[in-house]
Amino acid sequence: MRFKGQKIVIIGGSSGIGLATAKMAAAEGAAVVIASRSEERLQRAKSGIEGDVEVLTVNVVDEGSVKAFFDKVGEFDHLTTPGNEAAMGRFLEMDTKTARAAFDSKFWGQYQAAKYGATRLRSGGSITLFAGIWSQRPVAGGTVVTAINSAIEGLGRALAMELAPIRVNTVSPGIVDTPIFSTMPPDAKESMFKEVAASIPVKRIGKPEEIAKTVLYLMSNGYATGSTLYVDGGATLR
Ligand SMILES: NC(=O)c1ccc[n+]([C@@H]2O[C@H](COP(=O)([O-])OP(=O)(O)OC[C@H]3O[C@@H](n4cnc5c(N)ncnc54)[C@H](OP(=O)(O)O)[C@@H]3O)[C@@H](O)[C@H]2O)c1
Repeated sequence: MRFKGQKIVIIGGSSGIGLATAKMAAAEGAAVVIASRSEERLQRAKSGIEGDVEVLTVNVVDEGSVKAFFDKVGEFDHLTTPGNEAAMGRFLEMDTKTARAAFDSKFWGQYQAAKYGATRLRSGGSITLFAGIWSQRPVAGGTVVTAINSAIEGLGRALAMELAPIRVNTVSPGIVDTPIFSTMPPDAKESMFKEVAASIPVKRIGKPEEIAKTVLYLMSNGYATGSTLYVDGGATLR
């Protein structure tokens, strides 16, 4: 019961890595707030989580929504921000509007969450941001996401200095099987997973729980700040 008596806010708690984190944090005694844009998805997620769970909607792209969200949350202990989306696309073909929208969600969304969440954090509090290993191992068609992930890793290090004693860390996952890939045709997804798995030391795709463990580790370790943890089955070694 590492988190008994603590309140943990998970923006993106309705799906994938955020949902796995919410389940694990609640099982470890935390009062969990799960947040995302869709009340319906949040309620569905809540029904699968055992423990103390509150549901609140927020759209991280909208600064007013983020501000109002933290007004409702009040004081809390730890924040994590896997709730965002960033489109893929070839650099020369993707229109700049789509690229900017990706930054609005994954970069500025986390920036705004950190900004309005930080002032509500209790002593000993932490923020865990989400990047992704393309910051280190870019792929064609992922240029904008690579740029965002690199920016998030820099933001995490800078905020660890500026917001201290609040601890700020970043998790940079490899390919993890979550609904993020639900818009891909099943065959394309399967062959992408196979190809990635074959190319990395662990020879398989990651599970959301394996990233959730990392988030809870960073929240609970009082000496961890300014770190970026690559949890990627060894993909950065390729
Ligand atoms: N899965 C991977 O392979 C992988 C690899 C590298 C990095 N990552 C990063 O890990 C994080 C979590 O990914 P995941 O795979 O768990 O994704 P996911 O299953 O698609 O979940 C995304 C979550 O974000 C919420 N969300 C999206 N846009 C939002 C917005 N504007 N405001 C508030 N909430 C929003 C979604 O809920 P609503 O739709 O209800 O808003 C959902 O709860 C992301 O930052 C992703 O880039 C994932």
